[in-house]
Formats: sequence, C-alpha cells, structure tokens
Amino acid sequence: MDKIKVIGGKKLEGKIYISGAKNAALPLMTAALLTDEPVTLTNMPILSDINSLCVLLEQHGSKIEVKDEILDNHETKTYTFTTKKIKTTKAPYEIVRKMRASYYVLGPLLAREGKVELSLPGGCAIGARPMDLHLSALEKMGAKIEIKKGYVHAKVRKRLKGAHIIFPKVTVGGTCNLLMAATLAKGTTKIENAAKEPEVNDLANLLISMGAKIYGIGTSILTIEGVDKLHGANHKVVPDRIEAGSYAMAAAITRGKIELINACPRDLATPISLLRDIGVKIEETKRGFIIDANKCKIIGKDVMTEPFPGFPTDLQAQFTALMTTADGASLITETIFENRFMHVPELLRMGADINIHGHGSAIVRGVKKLSGAEVMATDLRASFALILAGLVADGTTIVNRVYHLDRGYEKLEEKLAAVGANIKRIKE
Ligand code: EPZ
Repeated sequence: MDKIKVIGGKKLEGKIYISGAKNAALPLMTAALLTDEPVTLTNMPILSDINSLCVLLEQHGSKIEVKDEILDNHETKTYTFTTKKIKTTKAPYEIVRKMRASYYVLGPLLAREGKVELSLPGGCAIGARPMDLHLSALEKMGAKIEIKKGYVHAKVRKRLKGAHIIFPKVTVGGTCNLLMAATLAKGTTKIENAAKEPEVNDLANLLISMGAKIYGIGTSILTIEGVDKLHGANHKVVPDRIEAGSYAMAAAITRGKIELINACPRDLATPISLLRDIGVKIEETKRGFIIDANKCKIIGKDVMTEPFPGFPTDLQAQFTALMTTADGASLITETIFENRFMHVPELLRMGADINIHGHGSAIVRGVKKLSGAEVMATDLRASFALILAGLVADGTTIVNRVYHLDRGYEKLEEKLAAVGANIKRIKE
C-alpha cells in the first residue's frame, strides 16, 4: 500500500488550484439516474470515490463518458452519464461497502423505478452513521421499507407522494436523498430543518436545470413541487470548500502564503473568520483568496463543529493539527460525529499535547515543536491532519494508508510539492 513521506520545515508559498467538490459531485452523479437523458458534469475532481460510484452507476445501467478538460487553467474531467434504462435496482454490498455515499442511489431509484434494494453501508471510523432519517422520511412519502439481511428494501406503489418532513437533526445525506426523491413525487414536499451546505445547494441547482421545481435553496426550508419527468442538463461542480480549507490550514501551519485559486470564500465564511481570529491574514481576490501567515503569531482559539454555516466537521481534524503548534490552548468540540478524534493518538505520537474529554471535546495546548513519526489514520480528514503535522514536524513523517487521501484530495502530493513542501509518495 502506498505511503506519503513528508519532511517538515518548509514554508509553503505559491498557488494551489482547488478542485470540484467531492461531496457535491457524488449526489450530482446519482441525480443523473433520475432521467433517461444525458447529464454532463464539468469540473469533476479526479478521485477514487468518483471511480467507485461510477462502478455502482454502471451496474445500475448508466453509460459513462469521461473527457479531460482544461478549466480555468486547471486539468479537470467532464463526465456524461446516460441512463436510458435502469438495469437493476439492487445496490450490492460488494460495491456499497467501499463507499458510504452509494446510499445516494436510494432516492433516485425509488423515484424512477418504485423500488430499490440497497446494502446498508454500516458504521465507519468516525461514527455509527445510521440512515434512519433518510428511511423514515421516505416512508412518509409512501415508501414501504424493510431491512432484511443487511439490505434496505424500499418499494412504493405507483409513485412517491409529497409529504411534510421535519428532520429532527440536520442531515446532509438525508436532505440530498429526499430532494432527489421529491422531484418526481406526486404533489408537494416540504423539508424543514434541511441541510444548507453548499453541496446540497449545488444538487438543488442541478435538479432545477433538469426541470425540477425547488424553492428555498440555501435556507432550512425546502419546498419541492413534484414533476412527471426530468430531462438532461449540463452543470459545473462547485469548488471543494473542504479542500480549500485544508490547504488554508497548510499555509497557516507552515507560516507560509498561498493563493487558493477557484476557492469560494463565501462557502468558508466561518473557517476564514476563525483563521483571521487566530492571527492569519486573508485577502479575497477575483479568483479565490490568499492566506498569508508569514511572520504571524498564531494563537489558540476554541471551536465547535456545527452544520453549515457553522464550522464544518470536515475541517475539525485539520484545525486540531494547526492548534498543536499555536500559542496557547484551544478547546475543540465535535458535535456532528461521535468518534471524530481518531487523529489525536497519532498527533500525540508526534509530540502534540492534547487531552480528549469523553467523545466530544479535546483540549489542545500548543507545543514548540512536533517531531516526525510513522503514523496512520483511519479516515480522510484525519489523514490530512497528519500531513499538516508532518509539514512542520522536525524530521520525517510517513503517513500510511494513503488510500484515504486518494478518496478525497486530488493530486495531494503534487499540489503541496508545487508550493514548496518536501513531500512524495512511496509506491509499494
Ligand atoms: C456528509 O455525510 C458528508 N459526506 C460528510 O463528509 C460530512 O462530514 C457530513 O455530511 C456532515 O457535514 C458526503 O457528503 C458524502 P449527515 P452524511 O447525514 O450525509 C446523523 C468527508 O470527510 N444521522 O449530515 O453521512 C449522523 O450520524 C465526509 O468528506 C443520523 O443519525 O452526514 C451524524 O451524526 C465524512 N441518521 C449527523 O446526523 C441519519 O439518517 C450528520 O450526518 C442520517 C444522519
């Protein structure tokens, strides 16, 4: 299995192009199952999660055409999905287990075919991650749902019907699945306490260009008037705010200066304001933003993860790493997932001073220096946190299980090396 080797101590300077957002691209891809016409997505990131979802979509009957394209001076991919007929409504365990986001086929298949058998994705390193909210909302729309032998069997007689859904907690996946299901339902669906993440808005915008009627985008109340048919569309994937936030932390932790091209500062308003509070300079430009931590004194500051527009759980591990070398202490509180401090034991091995309290919070006290070590993380964002620590640690850090990074960070080592990091992949 590949590893990444980082030798710490380089200040990062230069430009990084931000790719299309993984967490937007995945539901956009499954939305293509809602029509028999072609759906073209540009600015697609080059990631293993995208490839895994393609395998699932192909077995459902999608024909997928992929083209290389240069967009804003940056190499990207354009995907066209055409699903004339659904070949099977079964999403099997062998494929679903590789990627949780496979559950995004649930809403579209149920809406188009009236039935679906989806292997339950199960828990993962960051928590139990149940699907109960997706399922109870679909039941309200008339679906009959049973769990048998690890599979969700969902069926609907004729067509899903509009319903009033109030999510008891904000769920990104639940909101996306419901949005897709409701587009082809009979009547109007209202979703209260809907997720407002930019990736959800991006999905709603694609659905609208496919002919859906959705109101309230970007607010916590979404209203969807069902239509009889959706058509093909072209859509550009939004920039990846988590990738941009992660590289912003890389500039900060190395006290460097990086321009993040194609990043969208509006989608990162809370992390940007936090970075300013800890002492980093941030300047918006026409094509993204510049993060300048040259000669900055970075101070410890508390943070709590929350649904958008709050501080994202997907940047918590990276911020924890940044706080390990800050001046002072920081209380990090994780409210979205119950087990998202898996990076902490590895950071401790690199000399960080962190105390975890229960499952929900960690106190980080800044240390003068981290030291390189061989480390391993159990999820994507935790792995990036270890790369960040490696960038400032004394000596060499080897990050194992690189496949986590390949799921969500396009050309990570190339992008970091281009701004001066001493980083390389060791093929094994
Ligand atoms: C999405 O996961 C993202 N994944 C996650 O990104 C992200 O961390 C998360 O949203 C929160 O922003 C994708 O977009 C593919 P949720 P999702 O439903 O949709 C609980 C990354 O690193 N819940 O908003 O699965 C759940 O357990 C990943 O890129 C239920 O209890 O998250 C969690 O505590 C990791 N029942 C909370 O709600 C349900 O039916 C929020 O989860 C659904 C969720």
